[in-house]
Amino acid sequence: MKELEERILKEGKVLPGGILQVGAFLNQQLDTGLIMRMGREIARLYKDAAVTKVLTIEASGIAIAFAAAAYLNVPVLLVRKKLAANISDEVYHASIHSFTHGNDFTATLPKPYLKSTDRVLIVDDFLANGAALRGLMEIVRQSGAEPVGCAAAIEKGFQGGGDALRAEGIRVESLALIESMSDDALTFRRNITDVI
Ligand code: G4P
Repeated sequence: MKELEERILKEGKVLPGGILQVGAFLNQQLDTGLIMRMGREIARLYKDAAVTKVLTIEASGIAIAFAAAAYLNVPVLLVRKKLAANISDEVYHASIHSFTHGNDFTATLPKPYLKSTDRVLIVDDFLANGAALRGLMEIVRQSGAEPVGCAAAIEKGFQGGGDALRAEGIRVESLALIESMSDDALTFRRNITDVI
């Protein structure tokens, strides 16, 4: 999505450890117009997939998931992050390792919200190693629902998570796919190169 790529080039900052800071429009400050247009694009990509629920995980994915779900005219399901203790039979749950933060947490969703008849689109803001999307896929699997695919606002292609999922036959769409980034240059997979 050209508009998102341009905003990344204009306002993104590359931090040590391969972290892209996009607080100005996606994380700390939300550009509502941009986020609605990102949601509209995700909805367009999945318009023929008969999606019945959009699934995301707290916190930063919520806005984009909401926008996509609004255009698809379906509800958003919000997976919560919990410490491993106190997991009951009433919830679907999956253990997720965050490479960025170097910790583990348990993702949970109350069972009544996801049925085996649902067709689920998984949405998040960042796709890096793919651990979060895999955890969400596991929750969908436990419910017996059909995962129709995943959508991320920004994929860091150089971390390989998206391509590993695609190699397994999972549909993964990213609105901006970063091939490489360094302090002073950032390359998108479709050959747009510029300097931040
Ligand atoms: P993975 O799910 O793809 O394996 O990625 P990872 O565990 O490494 O990501 C953990 C968290 O860091 C996620 O949010 C993810 O959205 C975020 N993240 C990963 N790479 C970047 C990046 O380059 N820039 C920014 N801004 N965020 C990144 P979280 O911290 O777990 O939760 P939340 O921020 O959504 O609350």
